[in-house]
Amino acid sequence: MFEVKVISTGRYVPENIVTNDDLAKFVDTNDEWISDRTGIRERRISKEENTSVLAAKAGEKALEESNLTPEDIDLIIVATATPDNFTPSTACMVQEKLGAMNATCFDVNAACTGFIYATGIASQFIKTGQSKNALVIGAEVLSKIIDWEDRNTCVLFGDGAGAVVLQRSEEVGLISQYTGSDGTGGKFLACGTVPLKNPYIDGKDDFNGKLSMDGREVFRFATKVMIQCINKVLQDTEYTLNDIKYIVPHQANLRIIDFVGKKLKIDEERFYINLDKYGNTSGASIPIALDEMNKEGLLQKGDKIILVGFGGGLTFGAHLIQWQ
Ligand code: UT7
Repeated sequence: MFEVKVISTGRYVPENIVTNDDLAKFVDTNDEWISDRTGIRERRISKEENTSVLAAKAGEKALEESNLTPEDIDLIIVATATPDNFTPSTACMVQEKLGAMNATCFDVNAACTGFIYATGIASQFIKTGQSKNALVIGAEVLSKIIDWEDRNTCVLFGDGAGAVVLQRSEEVGLISQYTGSDGTGGKFLACGTVPLKNPYIDGKDDFNGKLSMDGREVFRFATKVMIQCINKVLQDTEYTLNDIKYIVPHQANLRIIDFVGKKLKIDEERFYINLDKYGNTSGASIPIALDEMNKEGLLQKGDKIILVGFGGGLTFGAHLIQWQ
C-alpha cells in the first residue's frame, strides 16, 4: 500500500458579494439575526457561472500550484450536491475544461460531507496503486436550489469551490479517516428532483427542486457527529487533541463550532473559520478553508490538522492529516 499526501490547494468563489443587508431587501430578515444566530455576514452568489465552471477554476489553481501538467492527473472527483447535469458528470466537464485527458472522472454526492467522502475515495485509489495524482474538488452553486422566499434557509448558503491535488507518497499525509451516514435523517435536509413519471404509471407531478431543512434537527445532529468524528480519527493513532494544530470544520454555523469547541475544551482559535465571508458552501466549504489556510501560510510541514464535515443524507466524516 502507498501513502497519500496533499501537494497543493486552490479555490474559486464568484465575484458577486451579497451581504445580510442585501438579503433583508427581499426577505423578512435582518443583519443582527443572521450574524447572531449563524456568524454569517456575507456570501458569494454566482450570476452566470455554473458548478462545473467554479470547479474547473478551483481545480486549475490547485493544478498550477502542484507543478503537474493536466496530463499527469489520473483521477478527478468532484464532490457536489448541485451538479450542472444528471450526466455528464461535473468531473467530466472539469476534465474537458482542464484538458486532463488521462483522468478517470466522476462525481460524489454526500452534500456538505462530500469533500471528505471524495478525498477518502481518492486516497483509496492512490493507496492501492490505481492512481498517482488525484484532483479532488468540492464545488457548489447552491443558489440555484435555494428557496429565495424561505428565510429559514436562504440566508445560510453561498456558492464556491475548493480543490486539492493528492499524490502518491513515501511520507504519511493522510493518517486516518472516518465516515458514516444516517439515511433515516434524510428528510431533515433535502432537495427533491424530477418526479417518477412515465407512460406506465399515473405519476403525480410533485416536482420540488428546492432545498428544505429542519434547522434544529440538523443542529442537534451536527454537534453530535462532529464530536464523534473528531474522536474517531484520533482513536487508534498515537495522537490526541493536544497534537492537533487546527480543526477545519464544515462552515455551517459559528454556534455549532462554538458548541463543539466547548464540549471538547478546544479554544476557538484552533478552529479555522471563514463562514462570515462565504456562508455555508456545502461540499466546497472545507477545501476553500484549507486553501485559505495554505495561502495564509498557517500550515507547516508536519502539522496535524483535522478536517470534519456533516450534512445532508445525513452524512458525516473526518480526516486526520499530516501536512507535507
Ligand atoms: O450544512 C448543514 C446545513 N445546515 C445547518 O448547519 C443548519 C443547522 N441549524 C442552524 O444553524 C440553526 O438551527 C438555524 C440558524 C438554521 C436557525 O437557528 P435557530 O436558533 O435554531 O432558530 P429557529 O429555527 O428556532 O428560529 C427562531 C426564530 C423563529 O421565529 P419564532 O417562531 O421564534 O417567532 C424563526 O421564524 O427565528 C425566526 N427566523 C428568522 N428571523 C429572522 C428564522 N430564520 C430567520 C431569519 N431572519 N433569517
